[in-house]
Amino acid sequence: MTPHNHAQPGDYAEAVLLPGDPLRAKWIAETFLTDAKPVNSVRNCLGFTGTYKGKRVSVQATGMGQPSLSIYVHELINSYGVKTLIRVGTCGGLNARVKVRDVILAQAASTDSAIVKDRFGPYNFAPIADFGLLRAAAEKAEAAGLKIHAGNMLSSDIFYHREPGLEGYGLLPDHGVIGVEMEAAALYTLAARFGVKALAICTMTDCLITGEEISADARQTSLTDMVTLALEVAIEA
Ligand code: HPA
Repeated sequence: MTPHNHAQPGDYAEAVLLPGDPLRAKWIAETFLTDAKPVNSVRNCLGFTGTYKGKRVSVQATGMGQPSLSIYVHELINSYGVKTLIRVGTCGGLNARVKVRDVILAQAASTDSAIVKDRFGPYNFAPIADFGLLRAAAEKAEAAGLKIHAGNMLSSDIFYHREPGLEGYGLLPDHGVIGVEMEAAALYTLAARFGVKALAICTMTDCLITGEEISADARQTSLTDMVTLALEVAIEA
């Protein structure tokens, strides 16, 4: 038990999917897992454990943003022994090549957050995905005919920028950063710190260049594709 999680040791599987939204965690558990049992409901940040294709797997909501995700991820790793963490989320698009509904595998995650700052030296740590998870996700996505992009994600602490459109993102789009969300860099940093594996998979839902947004119907199908991909990777990790 922790201040944010009343699950008992052993309640989580070694592999956990991490949506931001608690109701998406519930939807994943009810839609994809067999025998899913609730394991956490503190602050309504819901967590479940069940099986997928006979393998034990969990899903835990992280809330929005890097501070919130960091609390849940820190505790999953250090109090519950979780070894593989796969974020399943949505992101904004920063590159015209990435279309609404495409899936981004965050090969790396740039950030404006102080959360990954090295307080002991002048370094900017480069948070990266676990290569094995990234490779598995890319191969499985290709086999399933899913349109994916592997590249650099921005994990920002700011959703509403003062500047319009791409202006708030500085040089990042010019440096090939393809999407923006709010969690992956902290996930990768904690995974590196504690020697576990992490990957962030995000469906692009709103393009910051064209203003195009995903429709409600397409959102559901796209999320289904992304969650299936994440589960297939999780059970083999
Ligand atoms: N910005 C940050 N996070 C997001 C966005 C965005 O535009 N879309 C989905 N998650």
